[in-house]
Amino acid sequence: MHLLFVLHLVFEVQSISMNHNFTCDCSCHVELKSANCTSSNFTNLPAALPPFTEQLDLSHNHLSTIQPRAFHTTRRLRVLLLNDNAIGMLADGAFSLLEDLLRLDLSRNRISSLSEGFSQGLGSLRDLSLAENRLTSLDSSCFVHLDALQKLNLSHNAIETIKMRAFGSMSTLRQIQLDWNNLTVLKNGIFSMLRNLEVLNVCHNQIDFLDIGVLSPLTSLALLDLTYNNLSTIQFKTFLSLNTYSTHIMLRENPWKCDCDLQRVFRKLCNVKRLFLDDYDNLSCFDENNRNYTAGFHKEFCVGEMVTVLVITITVVITVVAAIVMAEKKRGKKNKEKHWTEASELSCASHD
Ligand SMILES: *[C@@H]1O[C@H](CO)[C@@H](O)[C@H](O)[C@H]1NC(C)=O
Ligand SMILES: *[C@@H]1O[C@H](CO)[C@@H](O)[C@H](O)[C@H]1NC(C)=O
Ligand SMILES: *[C@@H]1O[C@H](CO)[C@@H](O)[C@H](O)[C@H]1NC(C)=O
Ligand SMILES: *[C@@H]1O[C@H](CO)[C@@H](O)[C@H](O)[C@H]1NC(C)=O
Ligand SMILES: *[C@@H]1O[C@H](CO)[C@@H](O)[C@H](O)[C@H]1NC(C)=O
Ligand SMILES: *[C@@H]1O[C@H](CO)[C@@H](O)[C@H](O)[C@H]1NC(C)=O
Ligand SMILES: *[C@@H]1O[C@H](CO)[C@@H](O)[C@H](O)[C@H]1NC(C)=O
Ligand SMILES: *[C@@H]1O[C@H](CO)[C@@H](O)[C@H](O)[C@H]1NC(C)=O
Repeated sequence: MHLLFVLHLVFEVQSISMNHNFTCDCSCHVELKSANCTSSNFTNLPAALPPFTEQLDLSHNHLSTIQPRAFHTTRRLRVLLLNDNAIGMLADGAFSLLEDLLRLDLSRNRISSLSEGFSQGLGSLRDLSLAENRLTSLDSSCFVHLDALQKLNLSHNAIETIKMRAFGSMSTLRQIQLDWNNLTVLKNGIFSMLRNLEVLNVCHNQIDFLDIGVLSPLTSLALLDLTYNNLSTIQFKTFLSLNTYSTHIMLRENPWKCDCDLQRVFRKLCNVKRLFLDDYDNLSCFDENNRNYTAGFHKEFCVGEMVTVLVITITVVITVVAAIVMAEKKRGKKNKEKHWTEASELSCASHD
C-alpha cells in the first residue's frame, strides 16, 4: 500500500517532467527549478540547461575557466555552486548576467586573483564563498559591485594584504571569515565601511600588530576572533575604540608577554561593560626566558612594581623616622648633658 503510493508519486513527477519540452544535460527538476550536475566530469559548462533553472549545482567537476557571460542561457539563477572544481581563471563579467543571484560558492578552486570585473552584475548577491583558494591580496576594486553582500568566506587562502578600500562598498556585510590566511597587521581604514559587520574572524593568521583605530568603524561588531595569531602585546585603546553595544573578544593562543602593562590592559578591558574577554582565563603568556605559562594572567605581574613602590615608601618612612629619632636624640642628649651637669654639680656639691 505504502510502496504503491511512493511508486505513484515517482511516476507523477516523471510525467510532469515529460510534459515540459526542454533538454537537460544534468539531472533537472521542474518544480524545484533546479539542475544538478554535480560529480559529472564536466570540463566545460553543460550546453543544455533549462532556462528556468534557479539552482545550479556544478560542484565536483573539472571546470577550469569561466568565460564572460557564461550563464547567458540561465539568467534566472539564484543559487550557483561551483565549488570543488579547478577554476583558476574567472573572466571579467563571468557572472555579469546573473542579476538575481543570491548565493555563489567558489570554494576549493584555484583562484589566485580577483579583477574588478569579477563582481560585475552581482548586485543582489548575499552569500559568497571563496574559501580554500589561492588569493594572496585583496585589491581595492575586487568586490566593488557587491552592494548587497551579507556573508563573505575567504578562509583558507594566503591573503597577506588587504588594500584600503577592498571592502569599501560592503556596508551590508554581516560576517567575514578571514581565518587561515597570512595577515600580519590590521591597518587603519581596511574595515572602514563595515558598519553592519557582526562577525570578524581573523584567527589562524600571523597578526602581530593592530593599528589603534582599525576596529573603530565596526559599530555592530558582536564577535572578534583573534585567536591563533602572533600578538605579544596590545594597547587598551585598540579595543576601547570599539563603539558597540556588546562585543565578545577572543584572544587565546597568542604569544602574550607576561608583564604588568599587559595585565593592566586586560584588567581594564574586563571592567569595560560592553566588552567581554571570553577567554581571559585561558590566556597563556611568555616570560622573558620564553617560558609559556598557562592561565598566565592569573599570576600577579604588577608585584615587582608594587615592591618598588613599597621599598620607596619604606625608605621615605625610615628616613623621616630616623630624622625624627635623631632630632629627639639630639634634644635628649642636650637634656642629659644638662642633667649630668646638674648632677655633677649636685654630686660635687654633695661631695663637698
Ligand atoms: C520540443 O521542441 C522542439 C523545438 O524546440 C520540437 O522540435 C520537438 O518536437 C518538441 N518535442 C516535444 C515532445 O514537444
Ligand atoms: C545534487 O545531487 C547530489 C547527489 O547526487 C546531492 O548530494 C546534492 O545535494 C544535490 N545538489 C543540490 C543543490 O541539491
Ligand atoms: C568521472 O571520471 C572518473 C574517472 O575517469 C570515472 O571513474 C567516473 O565514473 C566518471 N563519472 C561520471 C559521472 O562520468
Ligand atoms: C568558510 O569556509 C570554510 C572552508 O571551506 C568552512 O570550513 C567554514 O565552515 C565556512 N564558514 C562559514 C561561516 O560559512
Ligand atoms: C601562510 O601561512 C601558512 C600557515 O597558516 C604557512 O604554512 C604558509 O607558508 C604561509 N605562506 C606564506 C606565503 O607566507
Ligand atoms: C611573530 O612576531 C615576531 C615579532 O614580534 C616575529 O619575529 C616572528 O617572526 C613572528 N612569527 C610569525 C610566525 O610570523
Ligand atoms: C602555551 O601552553 C599552552 C598549554 O600547554 C598551550 O595550549 C598553548 O598553545 C601554548 N601557547 C603557545 C602560544 O604556544
Ligand atoms: C579554559 O579554562 C577553563 C577553566 O579555567 C577550562 O575548563 C577550559 O578547559 C579551558 N579551555 C581551553 C580551550 O583551554
